[in-house]
Amino acid sequence: MGREIAVFDTTLRDGEQTPGVSLPVSYKIQIAKQLDKLGVDVIEAGFPSASKGEFEAVKEIANLGLNAKICGLARMVKGDIDAAIKADVDMVHIFIPTSKIQVEHTIKKSREEIIEISVECVEYVKDHGVECMFSAMDATRTEMDYLKRIYKAVEEAGVDIVNVPDTVGIATPFKFYDMIKELREHLKVPIDVHCHNDFGLATANTYAAVLAGANEVQVTVNGIGERAGNAALEEVVALLYAEGFKTNVRMEYLVETSRLVERLTGVKLPPNKPIVGENAFSHESGIHAHGVLKDARTFEPGIITPEMVGHKRRIVIGKHAGRHQIKKMLEDAGYVVDEESLTKIVEKVKELGDKGKKVTDLDLFTIAEVILGEVRKEERAVNIEEVTVITGNKITPTAVINAEVMGRKKVTSAIGVGPVDASLKAVTELLGKKIKITEFRMDAITGGSDALADVYVTIKDESGETFTARAAGTDIVMASIDAVINAVNYLMLRKKKGRR
Ligand code: KIV
Ligand code: ZN
Repeated sequence: MGREIAVFDTTLRDGEQTPGVSLPVSYKIQIAKQLDKLGVDVIEAGFPSASKGEFEAVKEIANLGLNAKICGLARMVKGDIDAAIKADVDMVHIFIPTSKIQVEHTIKKSREEIIEISVECVEYVKDHGVECMFSAMDATRTEMDYLKRIYKAVEEAGVDIVNVPDTVGIATPFKFYDMIKELREHLKVPIDVHCHNDFGLATANTYAAVLAGANEVQVTVNGIGERAGNAALEEVVALLYAEGFKTNVRMEYLVETSRLVERLTGVKLPPNKPIVGENAFSHESGIHAHGVLKDARTFEPGIITPEMVGHKRRIVIGKHAGRHQIKKMLEDAGYVVDEESLTKIVEKVKELGDKGKKVTDLDLFTIAEVILGEVRKEERAVNIEEVTVITGNKITPTAVINAEVMGRKKVTSAIGVGPVDASLKAVTELLGKKIKITEFRMDAITGGSDALADVYVTIKDESGETFTARAAGTDIVMASIDAVINAVNYLMLRKKKGRR
């Protein structure tokens, strides 16, 4: 294992600066607890002087007794620093613009004055017995000589750690490496880096800085933050692990943390997001899936497995999936499939594929279980021929079903509180009300509005005999009807064969 790199999480500060994101205190507390469980070293909980709510959130987080150090952001003004100290933080992160463009248009002070203010503020924080981090904002657009001078001045004033922010995300890995190396040789205090993702280089730049000697990395969960966001915690941590560096992050909680932050911030994760995205370990059928089924390392980095980060590997079966591949996947998962059932399973997969649905391995296993559990057509007591369901905001949901029951054609109709209820009432009507549905459960197997619905029903006949069956489909009405009919057919078959 190589050097140990500290992880400074700023999801609750820079992450909360994502356009459109504003977290209530209770959400910030939930995220802080999760970050602590994840094992980050520092949690930047917010900007205490920004509002009353923000002050309360930082103070509550600082008093939760978490293992991580709690940090609060402050401009270099006494009021901001006092607010952070009053919020009971372990560390105050003070920042000041240093690049020509920012100094001219924002702070409007001379470079010497900026150094003097910085030194005074570091001393002020330290006099209160609190740790201090200093950021030269827009460092990557600041002249190196000046940067060295200001960082040296705050080091001499007793700062605990300096941060080098790539505020507008214009760094590139080789240039950033050189910059951090030069600063590393010039300073004694630990160096932390804060990279924005404007050119999609935040993770690469963060990693380059580590190679150049940085001691700490600033990251946000899912890479949220100002504009294009910050370096993503999950990417940086996984990369550091893969390259032999040590962090205190418990990688098995990465996906859990990512999902929580996605849910509470409302910032949706793209499916192709590295490490934590829905597709991060998904393989479409074909050469890749074939290789992965043999050995996942053929088409995955290998050094990080889905289990290591709390994820799942998925094989997505497209409409081009072959019979052979489907058979192999089922057999590998322990299913014994006869040729007739396999044909039906393949047909169902292709039917879903033609409708544009991605069929995951979980979908496949559900389809297989349903088909393997079906009564053969010639032995069925009931066969559904046609179903018509009408529903709408001004219409009472109504279902009409045409079927063959014990060799006789029948048509029934019923109304209900919704389309599923109306259909199930029409089905029981079809059977002369001789059965009762005693249990009904519906689960969506994978996400999305086109998810495969998995329906379980238990029915009871007049003699009190019960049977549970299952059906699956993207149409919830049809899946519900099929589940009841499957149960009825089983029950009838069992009676016919005299088995109990
Ligand atoms: O991007 C930036 O420069 C910042 C500072 C407050 C460190 O977020
Ligand atoms: Zn930032």
